Amino acid sequence: MAHPTAPPPTGIASIGIHLPPLAMPVEELAGLRGEEPAKYTVGLGCREMSLCPPGFGVVELAEEAARRALARWDGDPSRIGLLAVGSESAVDMSRPLSAWVADRLGLAGAVRSYEVKHACYGGTLALRQALEWRLSGAAGDRAALVIAADVALYAERDPGEPTQGAGAVAFVVDAPDVAAISPLSHPWSEPQFDFWRPVGEAFPRVQGPLSLECYKRAAVETFRALVADGDAAEVLGRLDAACFHVPFPKMVKKAVYAVGEAFGWSEEDNAAFYAAKVEPTMGWNRRCGNAYTASLWIAVAEALAGLDAGRRLAAFSYGSGFGAELLTLTAGPRAAEAAWRDDVEGDLARREHVDAAAYTRLRGAEKTTAAGEPAAG
Ligand code: CAA
Repeated sequence: MAHPTAPPPTGIASIGIHLPPLAMPVEELAGLRGEEPAKYTVGLGCREMSLCPPGFGVVELAEEAARRALARWDGDPSRIGLLAVGSESAVDMSRPLSAWVADRLGLAGAVRSYEVKHACYGGTLALRQALEWRLSGAAGDRAALVIAADVALYAERDPGEPTQGAGAVAFVVDAPDVAAISPLSHPWSEPQFDFWRPVGEAFPRVQGPLSLECYKRAAVETFRALVADGDAAEVLGRLDAACFHVPFPKMVKKAVYAVGEAFGWSEEDNAAFYAAKVEPTMGWNRRCGNAYTASLWIAVAEALAGLDAGRRLAAFSYGSGFGAELLTLTAGPRAAEAAWRDDVEGDLARREHVDAAAYTRLRGAEKTTAAGEPAAG
């Protein structure tokens, strides 16, 4: 019997990030909606919402993030054998978002190209599939391009409105130059209607309190699985950072405290863990707002930036419906270069801030037409 060849060393070889060109401070929205600004800034922990101008959306975000990731990768683009886009901002019920991206990047031929949907968990699933494709041996020497991209918009006056945002993170999955991803991970799923968007509707429907409970339960269960029979303080203490999906920063704090309570930690222990390992990963998220599938990976990218090789972090992915998974990553030799930090800092510096009047006009100008339809004739 032939021996299977050893799987190639696999992980994140490069990262590219793109954030939209507009933003609005949440205080401005509070004024428009007659809310106390502190409800948004303290109660939810939000700071700014990324916004997309007319004609700019998930395809542009995904394309540019991918270009940036590919430009930093040492490999030849002809080695890309898989293109997977995780998103809940699909522009078509049938044609995958990856087809728009592939078109713009000139990727065609022996490439498996598809879209992955599972609310905010879709990007993580795409990344896991790319990792497992490489580890299975099916990829041979080929690499994957994985993109998590979303535009998170709620109906005007919806309680979720201050948590809006948008963004994309792209990874080339190849040699683990930036980070290795452990093949072992800890999934948890339950069928729930916590947050969903019926076919044909532009905005999500949310059972807010249920969604908070589902998120916290998924965090508790997956962290329990990670710690297993070990000592929680010791296992989690070995992490340099614990990154979470960030629907809004206060959600993450609530989940961390729920995890700590499940381990019997004191209020002080919870506060210390949150301050040291979690809060520092959400600086970019606070500037960006919720970017659904990209949200966790924006936090991971911030935590990895500048990290010495060998340092470890955890990544908790949550997608409504619901599915969750806790991953562990180890920084590779090129994490310290933090090349993708320029993407975020450059995009943030170039952003134009809109006021309440401009925001109202922007919402009025939302288009429902599909992106990139083929030219007539
Ligand atoms: N000063 C300070 N804090 C204030 C305040 C004030 N003046 N007024 C209110 N607050 C606090 C409240 O006490 C509350 O804090 P606690 O939860 O710690 O008690 C917080 O502000 C929010 O207030 P409400 O609960 O009244 O807010 P709300 O009901 O209007 O909306 C929400 C909250 C339901 C989370 C809403 O933002 C929402 O629907 N968000 C979208 C759903 C979501 O993000 N769910 C998270 C899990 S699902 C997921 O993760 C997938 C995803 O990406 C969406």
